[in-house]
Amino acid sequence: MTHLLSNISTAEEEFRLNRAAYEERIADLHRRRAAAVIGGPERARRLHRERKQMLPRERVAALIDPGSPFLEFGQLAGEGFYDDVPPGGGIITGVGLVAGRPCMIIANDATVKGGTYFRITAKKHVRAQMYAWQHRLACITLVQSGGANLPEQADIFPDDGQFGSVFYNQVRMSAEGIPQIATVHGPSTAGGAYIPALCDEIVIVRNQGAIFLGGPDLVYAATREEVDTETLGGGDMHSRISGVTDHLAENDAHAIAIVREIVRNLGAAPKQRRDIAAPKEPRYDPREIYGIVNRDSRIPTDNREILARLVDDSYFQEFKPLYGDSLICGVARLKGYEVGILANNGVIFSECALKGAHFIELCCQRDIPLLFLADVSGFMVGKTVEQQGISKHGAKFITAMASANVPRFTIITGGCYAAAYLAMCGRPFKPNAMLMWAGARSALLGPDQAVTTLTRIREKAQKRDGTSWTDEEKSAFQEPIRRSFEEFSSAYNYARNLWCDMVIDPAETRETMAMLLDLAGRLPAQATQFGVFRM
Ligand code: COA
Repeated sequence: MTHLLSNISTAEEEFRLNRAAYEERIADLHRRRAAAVIGGPERARRLHRERKQMLPRERVAALIDPGSPFLEFGQLAGEGFYDDVPPGGGIITGVGLVAGRPCMIIANDATVKGGTYFRITAKKHVRAQMYAWQHRLACITLVQSGGANLPEQADIFPDDGQFGSVFYNQVRMSAEGIPQIATVHGPSTAGGAYIPALCDEIVIVRNQGAIFLGGPDLVYAATREEVDTETLGGGDMHSRISGVTDHLAENDAHAIAIVREIVRNLGAAPKQRRDIAAPKEPRYDPREIYGIVNRDSRIPTDNREILARLVDDSYFQEFKPLYGDSLICGVARLKGYEVGILANNGVIFSECALKGAHFIELCCQRDIPLLFLADVSGFMVGKTVEQQGISKHGAKFITAMASANVPRFTIITGGCYAAAYLAMCGRPFKPNAMLMWAGARSALLGPDQAVTTLTRIREKAQKRDGTSWTDEEKSAFQEPIRRSFEEFSSAYNYARNLWCDMVIDPAETRETMAMLLDLAGRLPAQATQFGVFRM
């Protein structure tokens, strides 16, 4: 066991310049978050208030226990995708404590295009459900939705993982005893009607909430029947006549109070089964990370310095420190929660891959959750390493990582590229959660490598055809490639596409990880059966 020691001088000019650059990134993150929490346009928010409705974020705040945190997923989803649709995609998702029980809360934002489902809305709802399912969290859906956003049908209607999967997931979770509860706060049409209808228990707000497969206009178009919203699908009708709903609330606040009562009576909440130590702050301030990550993304970070600012008491039991040292492996605690950390410190060589596979096996044997801190340009390439069999060693690492049934978390802290993104438990390997720091980047290749590779391919073709290009033509070819790889790799591109769950300030890492580890620690242990290791 060692306390990690730092060699950083915070007084140096270099540190100061790096910190200023990272602080600008953090300011940018806060600007984006602030835009997301506003919700829809002023006109729609005013209408909500005139109808005496709480805004969606006010509903969420009223639902969770006073003073408790809300662990929000996908806050920046859809940012910049649809004209005048704010980040978030018209839906709020996250985990909060309700009557002392962690629940997945999913709230439509009807101030954004009537709470209708765009592609990204459906994807975000499904992602929240998958997290809830994996962690066996009760789902509380605060519904006010016009259902499918009609022009988006190709992206929400026909396929698995789209809007229809929301309903499938509700049914399957209910079948597994994961409670599904809904409150209906406003008109909920078609798909918006099936969300509550497929829940175990529904609360509806009188004179506000309405559930119908087709609204009054559609009914008139189809049958020429004139009928008002309340008669067609209002709370009173559904609570007295159709029996679609189970509880009639007087207003939003009353509905939320009823849900809190329902949750209070769900039985014992799953208990934390892990041994949590008394949390200790790192010996170095996590905010110093801003000055350690170089403002020039081509300059690598010494990730031992990062670890010293993340783990409790800067205490790290390193595994094989003298072998394959560009992959740092070791056990530490984050706010008291034990975790096995794999952190890059350079490219991945065969030795690193073997060491990483061995360390993952140890963590699985000892039931220790894994945290991948990804900051890596790729696996080592070249004749020597190929002859050493880096493909099969890399495959062993990937097999161990993909098979591990302990909770797995990924944080991209720097630049994370190519197969190394996958090996460090990238999104396709289904980590329990994937986070990115505000300055993180990920792509198939870095912008410089992409430009070089595509230029060489083009020049080879020119040589074959006996043509050539001027310097101007060459830079006109290269510039858009560089720009598109830079834009692609941004953490915000990952966030807006929901390829990651959240973008965080490095200084939020300990708090966020503690919440995620707490939720994962309430699940029973699961044995790991490894795939075949290529020897
Ligand atoms: N698809 C695409 N856009 C939709 C939509 C839908 N299904 N439903 C509503 N919208 C848009 C509206 O065009 C409007 O856009 P704007 O802000 O750019 O003007 C915005 O959402 C808000 O709708 P509006 O009707 O002004 O708000 P409201 O609060 O009075 O009513 C609804 C909201 C959802 C009750 C109402 O719009 C409605 O009944 N929509 C039709 C729902 C439907 O039939 N869905 C069937 C899906 S299969």
